[in-house]
Amino acid sequence: MDVTAQPPLGMLAELTHRCPLHCPYCSNPIELVTRDNELPTDEWLSIIDQARELGVLQVHMSGGEPLARTDLPVLVGRAADLGCYVNLVTSGLGLTEQRLADLAGRGLAHVQLSVQGADAETANRIAGVKAHSHKLSAARAVKKLDMPLTVNVVLHRANHHQVADLIALAEEMGADRLELANTQYYGWGLRNRSALMPTAQQLAEAEPIVRAATERLRETMQIVYVVADYYEPYPKPCMYGWGSRQLTVAPNGDVLPCPAASSITTLKLDNVRSRSLADIWYHSEAFDSYRGEDWMPDPCRGCSRKGVDFGGCRCQAFLLTGDAGATDPVCSKSPDRGLVDAILAGTPPEPPELVMRKNTIKVV
Ligand code: SF4
Ligand code: FES
Repeated sequence: MDVTAQPPLGMLAELTHRCPLHCPYCSNPIELVTRDNELPTDEWLSIIDQARELGVLQVHMSGGEPLARTDLPVLVGRAADLGCYVNLVTSGLGLTEQRLADLAGRGLAHVQLSVQGADAETANRIAGVKAHSHKLSAARAVKKLDMPLTVNVVLHRANHHQVADLIALAEEMGADRLELANTQYYGWGLRNRSALMPTAQQLAEAEPIVRAATERLRETMQIVYVVADYYEPYPKPCMYGWGSRQLTVAPNGDVLPCPAASSITTLKLDNVRSRSLADIWYHSEAFDSYRGEDWMPDPCRGCSRKGVDFGGCRCQAFLLTGDAGATDPVCSKSPDRGLVDAILAGTPPEPPELVMRKNTIKVV
């Protein structure tokens, strides 16, 4: 056992990759797990039991669209019965008042709802389906039950100009928390990077709007702004350190140190069908590879920020350099920072067409 490893606090349970939306920024892998390869109910129940035993206190039911699983109420009920705080991460499509009341009755504690734009035209274009009105209904259902609501918006070039209106929309929806998250480039989203990359001007215009709203709404709605890291001098503290706080279980049972880790093709992933969750968390190559600080190369090794950003993002390092053990190229101290600067310099004046996510399902 790695003595530096603490128990995980949270588990992202990716119940399915099926999803009714076609978002071009989707960070799920290009190759999705098909329905035939999804774990059945009894195996998910065992995972939830194992996770709680391991120390997990927060379970995020996610996907794809978790409402596509008819056994969602059973899974929510088990996690809540074990004392976990259960969060539903949803597009809102299929979240009727009746389904939500059932889930709440079984112990669902929180809903995180994605929103693609501030108006129906923009939002539906980015979602690739007429989803916006369903999201407004879903938010009303959440507030009718007086449940806490987080609205999550992925920001990019096609909706960045709407930041003020997105904040107003989240207020109207009664959100307790608003995440304005600039796109991270993994999975399908990486394919659209040049179309999604915001301009420096968009970022400069958004910043004072977000700052003023954060101050104005301090008592009513928490705003979390996730920066566009390619434009930053230092990387994000991805996952607050590899294998330190959270694990992800993919729809087929693969256990990942971060939701995008399957993009690191050099990483040997283990599956809950062959090893226990605890064994994977404490003893597997995937989790041990970048845990703690021993793996760090220079310049991270001698850097005063290594306890702040943990050397940045392993997935980004791999996707940009081919080496998951490299310093995140976003870092201004990285020998590979030139890769990021070249990408920014190459951002076209007119964005190319977005390639919409494929391989989805119809939910409503
Ligand atoms: Fe972070 Fe490494 Fe850059 Fe230091 S050198 S700021 S630890 S990524
Ligand atoms: Fe995988 Fe950052 S997204 S480590």
